[in-house]
Order: sequence, then structure tokens, then C-alpha cells
Amino acid sequence: MTAPTAHPPTPATGATVPAAIEARHLTKRFDGLTVVSDMSLAVDNGEMVGLIGPNGAGKTTMFNLLAGTLTPSAGEIWIGGREVSGEPPERRISHGVGRTFQIPRPFAEMTVLENVLVGAQGQQGERLFANFLRPGLVRCQERAALDKARDLLDFVTLSPLAHEPARVLSGGQRKLLELARVLMADPQVILLDEPAAGVNPALLEVIIERIVALNAKGKSILLIEHNMDMVSRLCSRVVAMALGRPLAEGAPADVAANPAVIEAYLGGGV
Ligand SMILES: Nc1ncnc2c1ncn2[C@@H]1O[C@H](COP(=O)(O)OP(=O)(O)OP(=O)(O)O)[C@@H](O)[C@H]1O
Ligand SMILES: [Mg+2]
Repeated sequence: MTAPTAHPPTPATGATVPAAIEARHLTKRFDGLTVVSDMSLAVDNGEMVGLIGPNGAGKTTMFNLLAGTLTPSAGEIWIGGREVSGEPPERRISHGVGRTFQIPRPFAEMTVLENVLVGAQGQQGERLFANFLRPGLVRCQERAALDKARDLLDFVTLSPLAHEPARVLSGGQRKLLELARVLMADPQVILLDEPAAGVNPALLEVIIERIVALNAKGKSILLIEHNMDMVSRLCSRVVAMALGRPLAEGAPADVAANPAVIEAYLGGGV
């Protein structure tokens, strides 16, 4: 394991306190096609930041880079003052970063509760030798994980469906399950990819409330969302991007009124 590198000032704020998560001049190319180009952004501890932009802007690609499922072609990723650019997704999770997927794909035949348990990390039960040497501890941890998964299902209002197969869930309920799964690993930084897409108005309020509650508990959140009303309600700061590049950054109302942002949305046909 490499020692933490001294943290230079964050580009977004100029502060010397390390950001919870930070992208510095990230670029991603696929076979010569540049889909993210020189993108920088930072989420401070306990902050909730919106990431907006028209379809194809590169928002999900930014999440894949931040979560480690893609390796940047150039640029750096920092988590809490430590550079993690080359580390795989499991390491990001152990650094406290969790992400939801734009299109949740739960294990359809597993129960809702079992799908939440999939998000458990660092359990002794995952280690072969611990299973042999400390079975009591493993059983105890399994019980703790089960209790936690039940609490999380309660938190996302899915407890009544705990023992149903995940295939019965609606699109909105899948988004809530996705949130519970991610929370199993106790992330400090949560990347939410369109948590409200395709969600009916009643469930939307539940999702918004739960995101507010997580932020109130000190979680740092980066939120991709097309619903600008929701972004304005939740985020103090918004970063807008289009065609892989940064467009504007600031208070939601200012970014929404920015001519370059309006032009990007009109040009993108959104
Ligand atoms: N693995 C890949 N190979 C080639 N091109 C890709 C790959 N992944 C994404 N892209 C391209 O990168 C661009 C950005 O895609 P991305 O999914 O990041 O956009 P987005 O901002 O999340 O859009 P949306 O709002 O529709 O979800 C798109 O043009 C997409 O086709
Ligand atoms: Mg996307």
C-alpha cells in the first residue's frame, strides 16, 4: 500500500482540506474517441454536488472513472487526500466510495433482501481461513449483516418486499434497492447516477428524502440527474458538462441560466 501523498490545494475550492473525492483534469478516450476531456470537479466533505449535462455528455463515464471501473487516459482521481487513479474498484469501495448504476440490474431471482446483502464488504465470511478458524465470529458477522440489510430495507421503504424476488420490483423500487445495496458497504462518498429517472412522483419524494437524510448524516454526494428541480432542491453547487468538457459550475440557478448550458441542452436535443 502506498503512503498518502501530500495534498495540494483542491482546484474547485482552493481549500487545503482534502476534498472527499476529486477529479483532476480527467480525460477518457475509447479507440481514439474522446468522451471525457480535461474534466475537474471536487466534492467536499458533507457536500452534495450535482453533475448535469445533456445525454451523452460523459456523466456516467465520469462515474466509471471515479468508481474505478474505467481507467483514465489522463488525469488523476483523489479520495480524501490520497491519489487512487490506478486502483481497481474494490479499493475505491474500501476507501469509502459507493456508486449506484443508472440502470439497476438486481439479481432477478434472488430476494430483495439477498440483493442488499450483495453489497456487504469486508465480512470475515468472505475469507476462507477465517471461516475455518473463527466460525463463531463469521456467524456473528452474518447476523450483523442481516440486521443491517433489514434496517436498510426499512430505510428505503422496501421491507414489505424483502422476501420477494427482485424481478417483481418496479423501476423506482429498483432505484431504492440500488441505494440500499450501496449503503451496505457504509460509503462516505456516494455517487448517484440518475436516482430519479423513471420514478413515479410518490417514490420520487421518498428518494429525495432519503438522499437528504444521508447528506444530513455527513455523507458526501455527487448526484447525476436530469431533473433540474430535484438538483436545485438538493445541491448547493452544480457542475455542468457537455461533449465530455466542463461548461459551467456554481449555484444551480446560475448554472441553469448560463447561456452555454442552455445552448448545450438545446443543441443536444434534450
Ligand atoms: N465503452 C465505451 N466505448 C465507446 N464509447 C463509449 C463507451 N462508454 C461511453 N461511450 C460514449 O461516451 C459518451 C458519453 O457517454 P455517457 O454514458 O458517459 O453519457 P451520459 O452523460 O451519462 O449520458 P446520459 O445522460 O444519456 O446517461 C457517449 O457518446 C457514449 O456513446
Ligand atoms: Mg449516464
